[in-house]
Amino acid sequence: MSVNFRLPGPTPLPPQVTEALGREMIAHRGPAFRSLYHETLRLARELHRTDGDVLTWAASGSAGWEVAIVNLLSPGDLVLAAVNGNFGERFARVAKEFDLDVRRIEAPWGQPLRPEALASALDEHGDVKAVLLVHNETSTGVTNPLRALAGAVRDHGALTIVDAVSSAGALPLEMDDWGLDFVFSGSQKAWMCPPGLLIAAVGPRAWAAQERSRYPRFFWDMKESKTMADQGMTPTTPPLSMIYAYRTALEMIASEGIENVWQRHRELGAITRAGVRAAGLQLFAHEGSESNSVTAFHPPEGVTASEMLAMLREDYGVEAQGGQAHLVERLIRIGHLGWVNEQEMGAATAAIGESARRLSTNSQNSAIAS
Ligand SMILES: Cc1ncc(COP(=O)(O)O)c(C=O)c1O
Repeated sequence: MSVNFRLPGPTPLPPQVTEALGREMIAHRGPAFRSLYHETLRLARELHRTDGDVLTWAASGSAGWEVAIVNLLSPGDLVLAAVNGNFGERFARVAKEFDLDVRRIEAPWGQPLRPEALASALDEHGDVKAVLLVHNETSTGVTNPLRALAGAVRDHGALTIVDAVSSAGALPLEMDDWGLDFVFSGSQKAWMCPPGLLIAAVGPRAWAAQERSRYPRFFWDMKESKTMADQGMTPTTPPLSMIYAYRTALEMIASEGIENVWQRHRELGAITRAGVRAAGLQLFAHEGSESNSVTAFHPPEGVTASEMLAMLREDYGVEAQGGQAHLVERLIRIGHLGWVNEQEMGAATAAIGESARRLSTNSQNSAIAS
């Protein structure tokens, strides 16, 4: 049985990326690397829709929270953390660890953040330096209305710092048009690469904030990274294979066309939601804010996520994921981002339908027996 690998990250690798990963090493201070890195960053800027900078580090997505904080803020700064899921919660926690004065604006898990509520929270709190936002809450399958949220932040004069780990490269994201200041993501989601590369897009106001920031930093220093990136290099030895892979994936996305990629994800999201509804299962995300990169739904009544995940894996070859935090056993999450097509999502939702039917019958029979 072939595996239908449907985690919301890591995601499957296209053969071109696998080939790139197997290439031989080159001198990381030599001309071949310089032109490779220049071209990689050029494509990354294009796909983030920015004339600003894109920088990379050998790291997973979580490092983005820290890179943003130590470069753009100073201890004691007032920040507003917008929380409507587990990743927003973690971002707020990291901010606290760095002694920022963290205030929160929350929406229930499964609901989107509301721009009007954000605008009033900003008015209420006064001198907010930055708003910490998660574009796509991978834990709940909700996409936040980033453009409108960023508009509210901009009106207030604070920085917009965006965790786009499960949205960049899959969902519409316009760094410059939407006035985003710092946007980070990880290679293992819509970028169709293995885990291991942190990608951060940095706008002009973020650079101005960096001049004022008082955190100590070395490995995560953006200025150092930019000075080297402008010469086609990185301050430390780059993860060469990841750069080969990322450049290849970016070329694939650019040749499909980023707007076509966004449209493909819209269609994949719609197919997935239709399949889940047809299986008689309930979607978790509030209607109208469902993510087009990850869908979260409840397993049938009386069935745990672990039971359903095991059946999907063992009987249908579908590798999906459970919920997070208090929803571990109450949610199934299925990824449809990156290197994925309609047939694969059709097969995955068919398997969800069949396993839901079988598991519900088992659960009803055991209820009758007891
Ligand atoms: C929205 C979001 N932020 C941050 C992370 C953390 O990324 P990583 O696991 O690559 O550190 C994830 C991972 O799934 C995520 O989905």
